[in-house]
Amino acid sequence: MKKILLGITGGIAAYKSAELLRCLQRSGAEVRVVMSEAAARFVTPLTFQALSGYPVCTDLFTADSAAGMDHIELSRWADIVLIAPATADFMAKLATGQANDVVTTVCLARSVPLFIAPAMNQWMWSNIATQDNCTVLRQRGVTILDPTEGVQACGDVGFGRMLEPQDIMQRLVENDSMRHALAGVRTLVTAGPTREPIDPVRYISNRSSGKMGYELAAALHDYGAEVVLVSGPVALETPLGVSRIQVETAQDMHQAVQQNLKECDIFIAAAAVSDYRPRDIASNKIKKSKKERIIPLVLNPDVLAEGVRTASSIFSVGFAAETEHMAKYARLKLEKKQLDMIAANDVSIEGQGFDSNQNALTVIWQGGEKTFPLMAKRDLAKQLVALIIEKYNEKSRSKNS
Ligand code: CTP
Repeated sequence: MKKILLGITGGIAAYKSAELLRCLQRSGAEVRVVMSEAAARFVTPLTFQALSGYPVCTDLFTADSAAGMDHIELSRWADIVLIAPATADFMAKLATGQANDVVTTVCLARSVPLFIAPAMNQWMWSNIATQDNCTVLRQRGVTILDPTEGVQACGDVGFGRMLEPQDIMQRLVENDSMRHALAGVRTLVTAGPTREPIDPVRYISNRSSGKMGYELAAALHDYGAEVVLVSGPVALETPLGVSRIQVETAQDMHQAVQQNLKECDIFIAAAAVSDYRPRDIASNKIKKSKKERIIPLVLNPDVLAEGVRTASSIFSVGFAAETEHMAKYARLKLEKKQLDMIAANDVSIEGQGFDSNQNALTVIWQGGEKTFPLMAKRDLAKQLVALIIEKYNEKSRSKNS
């Protein structure tokens, strides 16, 4: 994190950007600044020029040639781009790919990681349009440093205050070390439900949305891992940088995992695999003829257990979705499937687990356990992956000693 391009857009929090610039410099970074016209009304470019020691670019068409760099070159020069504060207007432009000022142009032209620290009125922040823009930007790999709660310049109290410069700095440092934690590590994640056909139009499946598995795949990628995602049918975008293999049935999933697992170091089975499939698949639609119909079912392969047998030195993590005796059943699965770790959740509780954006987990391994309270699946995935990294490193060290 040596060269940081700091973009400032027009909000009152722009006055904090001067302190932020100082913080970044104290950490050893070289910082150059670009500002929107509106930002330059809040704080003068001269302030940032004096602090950074470089001319500040505020206009696309009079890009300071004395600096020897135009906006395209600036976006190539940087190791990361940080926009702080980021206004609602800027986020909307970024989400729609606009490039009509110097800040949006450097963002569109860059190929390096982009961080944005939003700052706005609480109603603007919670507005569905802004939140939709956040979703789009996150899907494209932009890291949003979520604003905090507090008194706002307009007198409102709520979420929308830009993070303090120290906290932004802290997040960048964490992110920098995070990006290398799993460098060179190959991972495989299963996600979503499977579909077991009964006839050409019907199938047996379950309520899994795939969200937890997809968030785990995204978190692994953020930590620098190579990620293969073997996914059942879900309505989710493939996370940036992740290779997805699309499957339908448990047998397809089993085959895809067997083909890819040998190359991998970490295996996370978050899929809700159908334990059984119809023994026979009718070639034509089954007609309504009898009062009662019995469909014989046969057992599906256990994708996780078979995977661990195939790649015995892999670090394996299973999930246990339970409706009763959660910890007891999870421990039994840990033993039976010879796993390194199991993440158990109680799917009988409304609003968590299946098809929800939130989840709570109790993670169990040989000799320990940790409980993660109810939180957004995205945050939970990050925390779970951090724990997996810790235990994976411990196992690797003990293998090598
Ligand atoms: N699993 C799998 N293949 C299966 C069944 C389960 O890979 N055929 C994996 C799941 O992805 C999960 C773990 O095994 O990581 C536990 O799944 P779960 O459905 O909770 O347990 P089961 O082993 O199916 O046992 P039961 O249905 O009796 O609870």
